[in-house]
Amino acid sequence: MNSFKQQLEQYAQWTQECLEQLLPPQEGDRVTEAMRYSLLAGGKRIRPVLLLATCEMLGGDIRQARVPAAALEMIHTYSLIHDDLPGMDNDDYRRGRLTNHKVFGEGFAILAGDGLLNYAYECILNNALAWGENTPGHIRAAQEIARRAGVSGMVAGQSIDLLSEHHEPNEATLQYIHTHKTADLLTAPLLAAAYIAGADEKAISALETFGLCVGLAFQIDDDLLDVLGDAKDLGKQTGMDAQRGKQTWPAAFGVERSRQDAGKAIEQAAQALSPFGERGAYLRELAR
Ligand code: IPE
Ligand code: IPE
Ligand code: MG
Ligand code: MG
Ligand code: MG
Repeated sequence: MNSFKQQLEQYAQWTQECLEQLLPPQEGDRVTEAMRYSLLAGGKRIRPVLLLATCEMLGGDIRQARVPAAALEMIHTYSLIHDDLPGMDNDDYRRGRLTNHKVFGEGFAILAGDGLLNYAYECILNNALAWGENTPGHIRAAQEIARRAGVSGMVAGQSIDLLSEHHEPNEATLQYIHTHKTADLLTAPLLAAAYIAGADEKAISALETFGLCVGLAFQIDDDLLDVLGDAKDLGKQTGMDAQRGKQTWPAAFGVERSRQDAGKAIEQAAQALSPFGERGAYLRELAR
């Protein structure tokens, strides 16, 4: 039996290998170079891990899940490249290196994001067609990813995040921002895995609750790290949220309550996995 950490490394390694295989080679093309620069810079690969681990928990065919897992990392990376642009958060460091626009310029950072987003769906749809008997499951997964990444999901959260800069902290707004900008893109891999594995409604509903709670805790923690974390460990600058007047959990409720709320959300996430019994052990540990 693999230990938790070994399994985590295994999932991350599969993702890395799959990304290397899928990505078009550089061949002197500046957009491709910019795409590879951010995508292959590392990162926790948490969204692919969630997709692969959920697929295994549900007894699905892991081979079918590798491309969608890698594609989700492309979508996430696009969201980071655009999030860092001067018109959004205006950040200089990401994943331990200069941000995409600092190296390639704003125009190419925008194009690298566009390239990653479209290429992700190209890969997802090619994979859907390749697994003939399960094509409908893969299409349903793709639909869920598109919905949660798009204008009723992550993009909606990013939009309110921008519109709410320098506003008085407001709990409902904060809940909305964190649910959409972060929890949606962490729930997408869970539900994509469920559709690929042919899971039932009860499993889907449990995973939806798990994703929301984990996502909320994840963004609260990201907010806390901006206040308390170390830039070297994080690979991005700290103290930026306050500078930009962002609505964050610690800005609204303070550090102590933020810690408590994140802890509570993680326990709720763990409880949401109870229908899976022992099979939920890996996801439970991952959440914690
Ligand atoms: C950063 O995501 C953006 C948030 C949603 C907080 P991650 O913390 O997953 O970033 P990487 O992928 O590890 O770089
Ligand atoms: C970003 O949230 C969420 C995305 C959709 C990219 P943040 O703006 O807090 O993420 P960081 O702190 O820049 O990684
Ligand atoms: Mg942001
Ligand atoms: Mg940001
Ligand atoms: Mg942040």
